[in-house]
Amino acid sequence: MTSEMDTDAKKHHLGICPYGSGALSYNNYLKIKEIKELQVCQSNPAHHDEPLFIIIHQTYELWFKLILHEIDETMRQLAAGNAPRATWFMRRVSTIFREVLVNQIHILETMMPVDFLGFRSKLNPASGFQSSQFREIEFAAGMKEARLLQFFANEPEALAQMQKRLDEPTLADAFWKLMIDRGFDVAHQIEEDGSEACQKAHSQRVKELRKVYQEPEKYYDIYELAETLVDLDENIALWRMHHVTVVERIIGFKQGTGGSEGVGYLRSTLTKRCFPDLWHVRTMIELP
Ligand code: HEM
Repeated sequence: MTSEMDTDAKKHHLGICPYGSGALSYNNYLKIKEIKELQVCQSNPAHHDEPLFIIIHQTYELWFKLILHEIDETMRQLAAGNAPRATWFMRRVSTIFREVLVNQIHILETMMPVDFLGFRSKLNPASGFQSSQFREIEFAAGMKEARLLQFFANEPEALAQMQKRLDEPTLADAFWKLMIDRGFDVAHQIEEDGSEACQKAHSQRVKELRKVYQEPEKYYDIYELAETLVDLDENIALWRMHHVTVVERIIGFKQGTGGSEGVGYLRSTLTKRCFPDLWHVRTMIELP
């Protein structure tokens, strides 16, 4: 019996288009026509560099969407007690950040500062500061800042998504829950109020984590998972570093379109961490 593949190959060979009008094609599967219609310039006539600016932001947002999808699966795997599978999905997140997100920001350096000024004023008051998916990633990882919701008051869908993330357990919560399930004496959640009790709970976590980091092979699945969380933190920090450097190169110390002081504000975010205890433990490790 001749397979469909064989028939298609013969048609190709004879120069006949093998696909019927209803067949799935690359373009309609991926909705390429629709995607290409989504770059709407604010400048008029459209500035040559504005499509670059739009496409780079849109691609970031598509990757952010996938990262949230992978974090959700990681959470499901952790809820089922499957640490190795959770680690697998977090590795994908690290790879996306490391191979794409940290570096692609530099494509914007091919835009001259004077060319950016050609359309920058049209973007006011929009800003990356209002990327709700970026905030969702921060919230889902463990860096919840409820005050950020106020900036999304006019976007009910984004607001609802962010509120959902704010109410849900984070990757950090799931990690501490796993530690508890494995018999470690750590607090599941800590009230981050700077109180003595809060500091004590963090010290206790670091004390327990130290056991894992002193003897990684004994607790290998926890160790591996913890390192993928540190990867995420490191990659977000690297992205911030690359972003602020590119921002300084293009707009110097001008104010941001979102209303912040710009580079000064962005520099103040460089030391933010989603998993501070996983960083702190390194100071405590000693030669066995
Ligand atoms: C010419 C290129 C860019 C410039 C000049 C720029 C500038 C800025 C500035 C000044 C801020 C601070 C908030 C404000 O006042 O607006 C900011 C924040 C931000 N930008 Fe950009 N940006 C650029 C490209 C990008 C790209 C490609 C992304 C990709 C998603 C991005 C994502 C963000 C995010 C997520 C924040 C919030 C950071 C935080 O609050 O921790 N930016 N940007």
